[in-house]
Amino acid sequence: MRLRARPGRRGPHPRPGRLGAGPAQRRGRPGQHHRRPDAPRARRAAGQPGRQPGPRGVQPPRARWPRAARDRHPRLPRRGGLLRRAAAAVRRRVIAVVGGHGKTGRAVRAALTARGVETVATGRAEWPALADAVAGCAAAYLIAPNLHPDEPAYVAEALDALRAAGVGRVVYHSVASPYCPAMPHHLGKAVAEDLVRRSGLAWTVLQPGAYLQNLDLTRDVAVPYDVDAVFGFADRDDVAEVAALVLTETGHEGATYELASRTATVAGLAAEAGVRATRTDEQPDGWLGAMFAHYDAHGLPAGPRTMAGLLGRPGR
Ligand SMILES: NC(=O)c1ccc[n+]([C@@H]2O[C@H](COP(=O)([O-])OP(=O)(O)OC[C@H]3O[C@@H](n4cnc5c(N)ncnc54)[C@H](OP(=O)(O)O)[C@@H]3O)[C@@H](O)[C@H]2O)c1
Repeated sequence: MRLRARPGRRGPHPRPGRLGAGPAQRRGRPGQHHRRPDAPRARRAAGQPGRQPGPRGVQPPRARWPRAARDRHPRLPRRGGLLRRAAAAVRRRVIAVVGGHGKTGRAVRAALTARGVETVATGRAEWPALADAVAGCAAAYLIAPNLHPDEPAYVAEALDALRAAGVGRVVYHSVASPYCPAMPHHLGKAVAEDLVRRSGLAWTVLQPGAYLQNLDLTRDVAVPYDVDAVFGFADRDDVAEVAALVLTETGHEGATYELASRTATVAGLAAEAGVRATRTDEQPDGWLGAMFAHYDAHGLPAGPRTMAGLLGRPGR
C-alpha cells in the first residue's frame, strides 16, 4: 500500500508568511514554535545569504525577536529587573511582612531577625507596586490594617501580588473566632481566610486572641465591657515568635492555629498587676462598638495549649 501525502499539509505548523499570520504569531506566543516566515524563499529572492529578511522582504527590528523564554512569556518578569532581584532575594532567604511597619509587623520582623532571616516590610507606600516590593521573597506574612473596611479585598489584592511575584508561601494574620457575624471585622477575616486557603499558595493561618498589650496595666484600667468576661489573651511577642517559627520551619502548611498566651479576665490581670479594673459607660459606634458589645456578652475565649505546644513553653 502506498501512502500519499495530504495536499496542503506540510507539517504541524502553518507557514505564517503565506497564511497571513497576525503580528502576535509572528512575535511568538508561549507554547508556539517560533519560525521566521518564508525565510529561505525571501533570502533567495533578495540574494542575501546572511541574515534573513522578514515577511515581504521587510527586515524586522532585531529587538522584536525573542531571545529567551522570559522575553516571550507575559507573566515572567523581564530581564534585568524583577528576575535578577528575585534570584538574589531567594538566595538570601528574605521574608516579606505585608503590613510590616505596624506593631504586629515590627514584632514579627524582630522574631524573624532573631532567627537570622532578612525581612522586607511593606505598608501604604509599597501597596501600589506590592508585587515589585515582595519579588524574590521566599514567603510572606500577611497582616491587614486594624478594622480595615474591606479586608477580603485587601487580602485578595495581596495574594494576587504574591502570585505575580512568584512568592509561593503565605502566613495570614487572622483573629480568634473569625466567624462571628456580630463583629463585621471578624467576619471579614473569615472570608479572607477562605481566600487564603483557595489561593493556590502554601498557606498557614494564625488566629491570635486579643493582645495583652491592648491593656496598659501600669495604671488603673477602664474598658467598655464586663471586666469579668473571659478572654484568651495573646502576647504579641509570642504571636510573632510563632509567626517566625511557622515561616521558617516545615510542617505548618495547611494548618490553622488559634493562639492565646493565657486565659484571663481584665479584672484578673489588673489584680495581678496591683491596679484597679473598671467598666466605663463609653459605647463607641460602628464596628468597635459591635466588638465591645460582643466582648461584654461573651468575652473572646481561646485556649492556650496550641501556643504552648508550638513554642515549647507556656505563653507569656
Ligand atoms: N489588637 C489586637 O488585639 C489584635 C488581635 C488579633 C489580631 N489583630 C489583627 O492585627 C492586625 C493589626 O496589626 P497592627 O496592630 O500591627 O496594626 P498597625 O500597627 O495599625 O499596622 C498596620 C499596618 O498596615 C499598613 N497599612 C495601613 N493602612 C494600609 C492600607 N490602606 N494599605 C496598605 N497597608 C496599610 C501600615 O503601613 P504604613 O503605616 O507603613 O502605611 C502598617 O504597616 C489587624 O489585622 C488586627 O485585626 C489584632
